[in-house]
Amino acid sequence: MNIQWYPGHMTKAKRAMKEDMKLIDLVIELVDARVPLASRNPDLDELGRGKSRIVLLNKGDLADERLNEAWTRYFQEKGFFVLKVNARSGSGLKQLNGVVQEACREKLQRDRKRGILNRPVRAMVVGIPNVGKSTFINSFTGKACTKTGNKPGVTKGNQWIRLNKSLELLDTPGILWPKFEDQRVGLLLAFIGSINDEILHKEELAMELIRFLMEYYPGVLEKRYQIDVREEPAAGNETGAGMTAGNEPEDSNGHGSDQSPTGKKAKVQAASVLTQIAQARGCLMKGKETDTAKAAGILLDDFRSGRLGRITLEFPEADIP
Ligand code: G4P
Repeated sequence: MNIQWYPGHMTKAKRAMKEDMKLIDLVIELVDARVPLASRNPDLDELGRGKSRIVLLNKGDLADERLNEAWTRYFQEKGFFVLKVNARSGSGLKQLNGVVQEACREKLQRDRKRGILNRPVRAMVVGIPNVGKSTFINSFTGKACTKTGNKPGVTKGNQWIRLNKSLELLDTPGILWPKFEDQRVGLLLAFIGSINDEILHKEELAMELIRFLMEYYPGVLEKRYQIDVREEPAAGNETGAGMTAGNEPEDSNGHGSDQSPTGKKAKVQAASVLTQIAQARGCLMKGKETDTAKAAGILLDDFRSGRLGRITLEFPEADIP
């Protein structure tokens, strides 16, 4: 499947973020815990150079707990402060103030040495669309915060949300776009629903998901749909999604695996599973033909809302199950 998506505002947004970076001490980066690498833009490492960094593994409630821990270690080893959160319910957010203090310890010590006391840490929330930035800002700031910065009616400049005496948050999050360096990233973002489904072939997408689930989460489809799935693992990473960090599809178009016999076999198997899901859910068209497009929609919805269970689509290299 070829996923192409080039939003036009990328350069402008990046320029704006570069400006905002001058105002802050700390970057709070949200990633989707189900796809922690595909949902981050590596440009942020350049843009945020010299700033304290926190990675929030958001939507941790939808992701595999064992892999949440593995990804926490992964980012910690790369020098980030990390917290697993659920921005929707607010779970995990209580610990954030403590982590902010830790992440900014050096800056605070420097301030103190210079005789600067009580200057709050200024932070910005950053992430690609749909990772939960607005939800996080709303949950974290709650209603008790006060907006500082501009006077009413003045639209230029930045608004700061004062959270407490030691932390201020820029009220608008920084939006970065995902980096579509390979098809794998596009596919992973499509699975979680971060790419508009209308530009995608839903059935193909659903079949890719089925192949992934059969290989890495055996039993999940049977349990949800009461169907009989033969658990013949598709050889290697021929799910096409190349789920380990930094893995590439077999050729630059991501087509290689589909041409191989095992790739073809896995595809046929996935198509048959999709038909079974359609039958199990009574998705029928006129003439009793199975409506696999409808079944694809059901499967994707079930996955995205967590009804298939807690599933992580990307694994740190050392933690392939
Ligand atoms: P953005 O600003 O980064 O673009 O993302 P936004 O906050 O709009 O969140 C995108 C979707 O993700 C929202 O769902 C939101 O509720 C959901 N979400 C955010 N954080 C979490 C989380 O930790 N766990 C779960 N399960 N969901 C989360 P939506 O369906 O688009 O909107 P709504 O129905 O919640 O209003």
